[in-house]
Amino acid sequence: MSQHAAPAKPAGRPEANRAEDRVVIFDTTLRDGEQSPGCSMNLEEKLKIAAQLEEMGVDIIEAGFPIASNGDFEAVREVAKLVKTSQVAGLARATRKDIDRAWEALQHAVRPRIHTFLSTSPLHMKYKLQLPPEDVYQAVIDSVTHARNLCEDVEWSAEDGTRTEPDFLCRCIEAAIKAGARTINVPDTVGYTVPEEMYAFFRMLIERVPNSDKAIFSAHNHNDLGLGVANSLAAVRAGVRQVECTINGIGERAGNAAMEEIVMALRVRNDVMPYWTGIDATKITKASRLLSTVTGFSVQPNKAIVGANAFAHESGIHQDGMLKNAQTYEIMTPESVGLNRSNLVMGKHSGRHAFKTKLQELGYTLSDNQLGDAFVRFKELADAKKEIFDEDLIALVDDAVLRVNDHVRFQSMQVVAGTRGPQTCDLALEIDGKVQEANASGNGPVDAAFNAIRKLFPHEATLQLYQVHAVTGGTDAQAEVTVRLAENGKTVNGQGADHDTLVASVRAYVNALNKLLVKRLKTAPETMQRAG
Ligand code: KIV
Ligand code: ZN
Repeated sequence: MSQHAAPAKPAGRPEANRAEDRVVIFDTTLRDGEQSPGCSMNLEEKLKIAAQLEEMGVDIIEAGFPIASNGDFEAVREVAKLVKTSQVAGLARATRKDIDRAWEALQHAVRPRIHTFLSTSPLHMKYKLQLPPEDVYQAVIDSVTHARNLCEDVEWSAEDGTRTEPDFLCRCIEAAIKAGARTINVPDTVGYTVPEEMYAFFRMLIERVPNSDKAIFSAHNHNDLGLGVANSLAAVRAGVRQVECTINGIGERAGNAAMEEIVMALRVRNDVMPYWTGIDATKITKASRLLSTVTGFSVQPNKAIVGANAFAHESGIHQDGMLKNAQTYEIMTPESVGLNRSNLVMGKHSGRHAFKTKLQELGYTLSDNQLGDAFVRFKELADAKKEIFDEDLIALVDDAVLRVNDHVRFQSMQVVAGTRGPQTCDLALEIDGKVQEANASGNGPVDAAFNAIRKLFPHEATLQLYQVHAVTGGTDAQAEVTVRLAENGKTVNGQGADHDTLVASVRAYVNALNKLLVKRLKTAPETMQRAG
């Protein structure tokens, strides 16, 4: 582990952060991020994420797309009530109905923002909107004017902006600013642009739009070519002062630009990019973990900043270098992103107080009830497993804490496995507060367990993915299981952790079922199209 402190002032960093170099962080984890295939968050989960985003200093939280469903509306409304220091944004298409609904959801926000968008590229105007450019131009003016009559802070986005004809885009932006938009967002909706183009594109817009000085320009980059973060940094260098991003880079298709990567790139390479954000980087790890748990999307081990291997050194040469001077192979410290490894070793003799302290070090602040539940699970684990690593505690807490309001809850199971079949499972689940039991057989113990779930809670969803990974090394390692279910075109990921792989599997399946129940409630209006 690294012992060196991050350089207090990286080479070339200006003495003071200049106001004009401040980059506003607009987080869309709860909106674009939630549009990731397989992702779904219930209200309680969204509120947890929103609180975490606010705590880490996010400037604007895009909490949802209120017209999309009652669930989205409620999420925006509740986030707006909860959040006090961050601004809260709600998305709306360019119609009065959408904008009114967004405004209704934002009523309780201390600092609300209506974010309205319309496609401007030839392809989108012709095929998606089926509108001539002049109608689109008028709709930009009408929608921004209407939004501005309701809310002081309006952002306008040109969907598929980077594939829009420059003259037309400049006209639309000029009109949007004149109609009162304070922020102009030009998304790379399909993640097609490369960094050099992105830089030239924003320079062109800022220079050509006559009233560009009256608005903040914003970049919203998708990651289809893996360039979302690079494009965001290029946009900032070109004069953009808001970036739209998500934790862990989740989002439509290949996702959005990852917030943690943008923030740390600006910090670590402040010598060549002298821009700054208001994000407390030491909260990054906690936010990343919370999101993984809530969504069931684990982060790939080699993911920059938040992957399990991001600060791991395997080769002897690297380890030797690290011991002599951590800066030989580390450009930032684990601590700078909130990855604290302490000497507090946990085992079966650890008490509640030590457990609580350890969790606080790992970034968790639990209520007394949550702590109680997690402590029971910890004791069970400590009886079964000799060494308890930080990863074990993280998996355990994430699994225990975020399941509190589930309709279906795991109780107990007994499995018969091995070569002499049939493999069977006795399973008990608590469904809406009532414990129910069933026995089922199957093609292997996992199949038997899943069949027992289907007996107790009949449903049509099909299993799309079943994945197991060990949280740590050793045969007594906890298993973390991901289960993906699909029903009527909707997919959800569930996660479960336990030192028994079969128990973890059932927990993961049950978690996916609970998410499906949440998704079922989110019925989009027939004409609804997803935003990019
Ligand atoms: O990618 C996109 O174009 C979007 C807009 C709706 C902002 O998400
Ligand atoms: Zn998007």
